[in-house]
Order: sequence, then C-alpha cells, then structure tokens
Amino acid sequence: MESQIQKLKSGMLADLKVATSEVEIKEVEVKYFGRQGLFGDIMKSLKDLSAEEKQTVGKAANMTKKELEGATGKRYAEVEHEKLSAIAEEEWMDVTVPGKKPSVGHRHLISKFIDDIEQVFAKMGFEMAEGPEIEKEYYNFDQLNIPETHPARDMHDTFWVKNLEKYVLRTHTSPVQIHYMEDHKPPIRVIAPGKTFRKDSDATHSPMFHQLEGLMVDTDISMANLKAVLTQALQQIFEDDSIKTRFRVSYFPFVEPGMEIDCTCPICKGNGKLGDGVPCRLCKQCGWLEIAGAGMVHPKVLKNVGLDPEKYTGFAFGMGLDRMIMIKYRINHLRLFFENDLRFIQQF
Ligand code: DAH
Repeated sequence: MESQIQKLKSGMLADLKVATSEVEIKEVEVKYFGRQGLFGDIMKSLKDLSAEEKQTVGKAANMTKKELEGATGKRYAEVEHEKLSAIAEEEWMDVTVPGKKPSVGHRHLISKFIDDIEQVFAKMGFEMAEGPEIEKEYYNFDQLNIPETHPARDMHDTFWVKNLEKYVLRTHTSPVQIHYMEDHKPPIRVIAPGKTFRKDSDATHSPMFHQLEGLMVDTDISMANLKAVLTQALQQIFEDDSIKTRFRVSYFPFVEPGMEIDCTCPICKGNGKLGDGVPCRLCKQCGWLEIAGAGMVHPKVLKNVGLDPEKYTGFAFGMGLDRMIMIKYRINHLRLFFENDLRFIQQF
C-alpha cells in the first residue's frame, strides 16, 4: 500500500514537471485529486486494511497529499513566472533611448513679417487695426470715392460673394480706413495689414495676397509727413539706412493728389548694378522699385466719414507685402508662400 502511495507521488511529480500551462496543471490535479482521481482510489482501498494499518497508511497518504498539493502550487507559480518572463523578454524596451520629437509647425514668414512691420510703425505711434475680409461694396468702393465705372469694380478682378448682395472679398485694405475713421476721431495714426483678393493668378500674382494700409489724419498733415514716415519705415523694414524714396504722380480715387512711391532698390542700393558690375535684375537696372500707392486723403472721403476737410488733412498709403517679403528674404517664387513646406518656413 505504501509503495502504491510512493508510486502515485512520483507519478504526479513527473506529470507536474511536464505540465507547462495552468490548464495542463489543472488536468494533472484532476487526474490525481479529482472525484475519479487516483488518490481517491487509494483512499477507498483503506477500508480493507486493519485499524492499525489504516492509521499509518492514512497518515502517510495525507502527508503525501499535502506534499503534492504544495508541489502543485509551486508548479503553478513556476509556470506563471515563466509566462511573465516570456512577456518581459518579448516586450522589453530600453526606456533610456531618447524619444522621437513630435514635429511641430512654425510661424509663417508672412505672419512674422507683419509682426515686424507692426513694431516699426508702433515706434512711430501707429496703432494696428483690422477689417473684415468679406466687405460691403459700400466700404470697398463707394465710401472710397471709387465710382461704379472704375476699373477696380470690374467683375473680372473682384470676387463677388454669391447669395450675399453687394458683398465682395475686399480687393484692398483701404476700406479699413473708412471703418477706422467712422469709429475714431483725429488725431489718427493707424496701420491695417491683412489679406486681400483679386481675380489674378500668374507667376507674380495670386488671387489672395497681402497689403498694408496706413492712415494719418490730423489738423496739419502734409506730404512731408508721408515722406518722413514711409522713408523711415522702409529703412527699418529692409534694415538699410541708405534707402531713399521718391514720389511719382498717379491716380487713386480716394486720394488727391495721388502718387506712386518708389524706394531705392535694396539689392543694388539704387545703382542699377551689383558690386561686380552685373546688372540688377530686380529693379531692371533702374535703381528704383515701386513699393506703394499713396496720397493725401481725398476731401470727399473725409466728408464721407463726417470729418471737415477744411479742418483736417491726412495721408494714406497702401503697399503689397508679398513682394516686399520676397525682396527682403530673396525668395524667388510666390509659390513657396502657399506650399507650407516646413523646410522653407522654418528658415525664418
Ligand atoms: N488701395 C490701393 C490698391 O490696392 C493702394 C492705395 C493707393 C492705398 C493709394 C492707399 C492710397 O491708401 O492712398 O491699389
């Protein structure tokens, strides 16, 4: 009988050894300790023994059972440990390896340039204003003294807003002048940068572009002020004290007199050619670049916003920003502004 118990013990220990999962261990447990298990058979046969034998064999059987239960528990623990080790092995990672940096965007060059310009004008006491990009015809044209027959009203270079009568995508930043003068009394010193829209699209024009409007109105404003402010501003924007400006007569309905402002070419410094005698391609060798439209605010425009033209005078100017940025940063294609390629944008 005792040898049977011994056999059962070594049999179960051997079975446990080769059981490599919880399920397999469970099967071994059932095989020995289950209701129909081998251990039960032994216990059943105890009844045929003498009282004395029953006691010794029963004791031995119980001890063996305890031992085997211990061995089973140990095997469960071992299998669990093996399982976890395998996972740890498989999922191991070196937490000291530097992480991958998430790629972040970058301020667009146009936004940066507008900020820089705001700084330049702020130092001269100019405030910043904004206006709507979807503008009433009234502000974009009427109040600026642009008659219905003016070419700027031509359907071909203006985007009219569908289903919204008399609204356009503003064709220039000049309507901000009107908004601002409606809300503020002189003295006025304001700039208004922003997006503008026209039905233009070629190598040097895009349907959306950027302008900067300037307006100064007070009791004694003259073209001398315009000259001083713009020359100073352009010198700072291009970071070049040698820059000069010149005025050429021109026509814009909302100013009188109206003019075109040129500044000396920042590339060839007004020489028309570069240091090595190579002709300057930017200014086509003339030494000057057309940079802004400007003039003295038209008396009709002042009247439109309720200001007395006998009392107040003012200047206004409007410049295209995209080309200025291209000149300053030597950018050779407008396309680069729209592609949003970080390799380009991150350089500024
Ligand atoms: N708004 C004009 C344009 O887009 C530019 C301009 C010309 C603005 C003369 C002005 C100005 O303020 O006085 O063509």
